[in-house]
Amino acid sequence: MRVLEIKGKTGRSKICVGEKLINLPQYLPETKTVIITNEDVARHYQQDFPPVEVIIVGAGEGFKTLDTAARIYDRLISMEADRSAFLVGIGGGIICDLTGFVASTYLRGVRFGYVPTSLLAQVDASVGGKTGVNFSGYKNMVGVFSQPEFVICDPQTLMSLPPEEHANGFAEIVKHAAIADSGYFEYLEKETGSGIELSLDVLEKIIYESVSIKASIVNRDETEKGERRKLNFGHTFGHAVEKTTGIPHGKAVSIGMVVAAELSAARGMISGKDVDRISNLLSRFNLPTKMEGNKDTVLDALAKDKKREGDHIHFVLLQSIGKAVIEPISLAELEEILK
Ligand SMILES: NC(=O)c1ccc[n+]([C@@H]2O[C@H](COP(=O)([O-])OP(=O)(O)OC[C@H]3O[C@@H](n4cnc5c(N)ncnc54)[C@H](O)[C@@H]3O)[C@@H](O)[C@H]2O)c1
Ligand SMILES: [Zn+2]
Repeated sequence: MRVLEIKGKTGRSKICVGEKLINLPQYLPETKTVIITNEDVARHYQQDFPPVEVIIVGAGEGFKTLDTAARIYDRLISMEADRSAFLVGIGGGIICDLTGFVASTYLRGVRFGYVPTSLLAQVDASVGGKTGVNFSGYKNMVGVFSQPEFVICDPQTLMSLPPEEHANGFAEIVKHAAIADSGYFEYLEKETGSGIELSLDVLEKIIYESVSIKASIVNRDETEKGERRKLNFGHTFGHAVEKTTGIPHGKAVSIGMVVAAELSAARGMISGKDVDRISNLLSRFNLPTKMEGNKDTVLDALAKDKKREGDHIHFVLLQSIGKAVIEPISLAELEEILK
């Protein structure tokens, strides 16, 4: 097991990569603990949970709401959970975001930790202190920054994750390497020849490297005033694709990363060969690298993007594989690339 730390203004977080779910009791205080999980994860792992009260919610974005949060508050009240209570979210990114949000608002904040069980949650959602719920059709519209006390990343739990869910995690993994670490990018090119069928050792190494990158960025810019925006590589365009086509987040971000790489190449920052390396690595994880959906609809959605300034959008581009920069891009330049 290897441990990484987030030292933020909104709390400290100890991220234990390679720790086991069954060792969770070692991390819990003596006070009342309540586990929040969903029906899928409970089906696979409830037998490994410590003997504490468990709240099971439904699976899917439709349950990441204030209504579900309200139902959890009700259950906590009926369990007589007071300010000394400790909440643990065990599940994918939805459960982590929801648990962090409930814990940070119930009784003005109680202590909490996560056991992320999806690849995306282990390398991304559980790290960095963003918590929240969807509201009125908008994703993550209501939430707070708040750090879980611990994050237990047990790669063994990924063995039951449906194969299509792995791709969502790999999109963020390729992103981390592309924006911050060329050596890690080369490692992925070398070690992931067989795509998502990876050994537990390789998976653990990948989770550790990705969490290190995200943690070090968050440690420099916890509340996304500057550097943390680099983690949006592929996401500006990706969100527009996701919104207009409804394809999964990882696939949309994959397309977004290729577009951002092509924009970087058009500006002479990286070579065409580098763009190919990025697309080839993404393809190995069954991620799409060609535009899906209608270009005009996507451009239209981008034109409405809240991050737009005049006719420019701030885009994360690559100076080289392993180094990201944020630059304004005009809608016209983007349209040119999409042709
Ligand atoms: N807080 C952040 O910084 C941050 C970052 C990225 C994403 N997110 C959020 O994370 C969410 C997406 O997370 P996700 O991709 O993990 O989706 P998810 O939570 O829906 O999990 C994916 C699916 O896999 C199932 N599952 C999870 N672990 C399993 C396991 N071990 N075995 C079998 N099935 C399992 C879940 O029930 C679900 O059906 C989004 O809501 C997104 O907004 C947050
Ligand atoms: Zn993402």
